[in-house]
Amino acid sequence: MLENKKILLIVAGGIAAVKVPDLIRRLRERGASVTCILTNGGSQFITPLTLASLSGNMAYQDLFSLTEESEMGHIRLCREADIILVAPATADVMAKMTVGIADDLATTVLLASDKPVIIAPSMNVMMWTHPATQTNLQTLKTREVQVIGPGTGDLACGEIGDGRMAEVSDIIATLSRHFQKSRGDGPLKGCRAVVTSGPTHEPIDPVRYITNRSSGKQGHAIATALANFGASVTLVTGPTSEPNPDGTKVVNVQTAAQMMKACGEALPAEILVCAAAVADWSVAGQTGQKIKKGVKAPALKLAENPDILATFSKPGPGRPTLVVGFAAETENLITNAQLKRASKNCDWIVANDVSVGSSVFSGDSNTVHLVTADGVESWPTMSKSAVAERIAERIVKFANKNL
Ligand SMILES: Cc1cc2nc3c(=O)[nH]c(=O)nc-3n(C[C@H](O)[C@H](O)[C@H](O)COP(=O)(O)O)c2cc1C
Repeated sequence: MLENKKILLIVAGGIAAVKVPDLIRRLRERGASVTCILTNGGSQFITPLTLASLSGNMAYQDLFSLTEESEMGHIRLCREADIILVAPATADVMAKMTVGIADDLATTVLLASDKPVIIAPSMNVMMWTHPATQTNLQTLKTREVQVIGPGTGDLACGEIGDGRMAEVSDIIATLSRHFQKSRGDGPLKGCRAVVTSGPTHEPIDPVRYITNRSSGKQGHAIATALANFGASVTLVTGPTSEPNPDGTKVVNVQTAAQMMKACGEALPAEILVCAAAVADWSVAGQTGQKIKKGVKAPALKLAENPDILATFSKPGPGRPTLVVGFAAETENLITNAQLKRASKNCDWIVANDVSVGSSVFSGDSNTVHLVTADGVESWPTMSKSAVAERIAERIVKFANKNL
């Protein structure tokens, strides 16, 4: 998606500038060309020489440079770029962008540009939540400046809260999506994918149900990532508070049995990703009436639910070419995931640790291991959207070879 794209990267004066070398390296790995502009603040955190060496292009800083401005360098820089990325975007740069201050090369380029702008804000939590910054943020959004992050967590200043620059993988995912959207198709064009997501609700009676802690964030992010790569995606989801991903067909279900039926109706497809946390059991013998509170607590009799992953992984005509299952384990993660892959006949298992304290179910990040016929790959902890992006990239590679 980023092949041959020209990215003008503005680096402002925040501590997150230390993440910029990794960002440049990963953009270049994807075939993008990166040209950097440093603000004066930015140059306190990273040198032009570092940026020039890593990007392979000159790094600019000086608005009133005789050599660079002999051909109106500030205008040329914005005309040549496909997109402008400001990372980190400081409170100061955001404020200047809002009111149109152009007192250095970076802000002059931003004002003189007609190109799409993406900013990755990074700052102390009080700076971020300050009404001035929040008002500026809203103004920038109304001008179609795309904003990535910031995330929540430990900040460099020692405080905790909103203000961490988005992960490099999220910035790359957003850039990829931008170019994907503007291209209108992608490497998975013509490919059908069914993705399951969220928990299921298994009724005990008309008002009570059994469920689990799945938020649907990971499954929804995978549906989004596949759609961004041009796949025609049906998302079959249990009850979640996640918004429907753009560009996908969403089928809402409650129970495992309904999810099974909806998947059967959505198939055939080349790709099936079973990310939902489907309840293993439903409650047998429901009468359709609310169980009255009595002297004794009722004993619930459980019945086994259909195994969606095993059913659709079964070899035979109509089986999706690639079936990806998820394994949420609290112990022996890899061994159990390998056993699951073999017993269910699926092609890949994405294994994650959901033991207490891992906060995988409710959180925004995930640490996963990809178990395939070729072995186990352990990925570093990253946001769920970055995990989704990476799974989708692997699916693109698979599709290039096998579909
Ligand atoms: C050690 C240090 C860290 C800073 N980190 C941030 C930051 O993360 N975000 C931010 O908005 N400002 C931060 N600042 C303040 C900016 O550097 C300052 O507002 C500066 O004027 C920004 O200039 P620029 O936006 O033109 O790069 C920091 C300042 C110092 C001294």
